[in-house]
Amino acid sequence: MNQKVVLITGCSSGIGLSLAVRIAKDEKKRFMVYATMRNVSRGAALVEAAGKTLGRTLEIKQLDVCDEKSIKACVDSLPERKVDILISNAGMGLIGPIECQTIDEMKTVMDTNFFGLVRLLQEVLPDMKKRKKGHIVVISSVMGIQGILFNDVYAASKFAVEGFCESLAVQALRFNLNISLIEPGPVITEFERKVFEEGMKVDLSKADKVTADMFTNIYLKNYSQIFETLGQTPEDIAEHTLKIITMDNPPFRHQTNTLYTPMTTLKYADPNGDLPIDTFYKMVFEHDKVFNASLNFLKMLRWRSRKSFTIDKDKDKDKAS
Ligand SMILES: NC(=O)c1ccc[n+]([C@@H]2O[C@H](COP(=O)([O-])OP(=O)(O)OC[C@H]3O[C@@H](n4cnc5c(N)ncnc54)[C@H](OP(=O)(O)O)[C@@H]3O)[C@@H](O)[C@H]2O)c1
Repeated sequence: MNQKVVLITGCSSGIGLSLAVRIAKDEKKRFMVYATMRNVSRGAALVEAAGKTLGRTLEIKQLDVCDEKSIKACVDSLPERKVDILISNAGMGLIGPIECQTIDEMKTVMDTNFFGLVRLLQEVLPDMKKRKKGHIVVISSVMGIQGILFNDVYAASKFAVEGFCESLAVQALRFNLNISLIEPGPVITEFERKVFEEGMKVDLSKADKVTADMFTNIYLKNYSQIFETLGQTPEDIAEHTLKIITMDNPPFRHQTNTLYTPMTTLKYADPNGDLPIDTFYKMVFEHDKVFNASLNFLKMLRWRSRKSFTIDKDKDKDKAS
């Protein structure tokens, strides 16, 4: 059978892990997945989740997106160096006031999230162009469209990814190649935990009192609730991505979270750019009680819809038995 070769980065946890497993478990066995990670000793969770697909439709390989040699070695090790679908997923976050971050910390985020993608494409794109076949899928973020308080550098890295892909997409079309940006809102993964724990450790001594207070008592205080209320699972993102890679004409942008769409729509509604900034400002500083009440309301709605979904499933089971 003519299986499509899928190369995915950052598969030791979260979205990358779920993607690798979901695509490898495709019912029609349409894909051969090369699930890569920078440190293969962190592969236990993937090995367990992959189950019987390991060695059949899934293979684990080493790839560090910050190291050109490791990318080349990985691509060279594939049969005919062929990648039909490249999923650039590896990434990291950074939160806090910029006066409390070092330039080196910021460079690491840009190096991973933006230059990591550039390095991958330098290795894979020329072959795709020669074959006039290929799909580049990038796990971006809604923060690639809209900046969020105290995510300045992370959002900048995802804006860079989006600008880069938007420019490249026109050239890619000339070679019959597709590029798709997957734009999740919050997703409950290691990312959330790591970013929050790092955020709690930020040395705020270089920030003024107002900024430090805003970060601790507004941003960090609401962080977990936002993830709990709006957060999707990595499996949700994997389902969305599977749909995108199996479409004949995949879209350039795909947002995974409809709860988030009204916020990103504001961006397009006002060419001056003031509308989303004013709205976020009012939400955070003037209508914080309404904002919190809305989050609680959304949380309840999601809980109810999950509950009714479970009940419906149980009813179906009862009918079947
Ligand atoms: N979680 C969210 O709320 C969210 C929302 C929107 C978009 N995203 C994006 O989704 C992607 C995956 O994030 P996640 O939520 O699944 O977080 P995660 O669980 O922390 O996974 C990140 C993955 O990237 C890997 N990675 C980091 N630096 C790397 C490098 N230099 N080379 C290769 N792999 C590297 C990590 O490997 P190690 O285990 O070795 O660190 C890990 O496997 C990221 O691009 C992120 O920006 C996440």
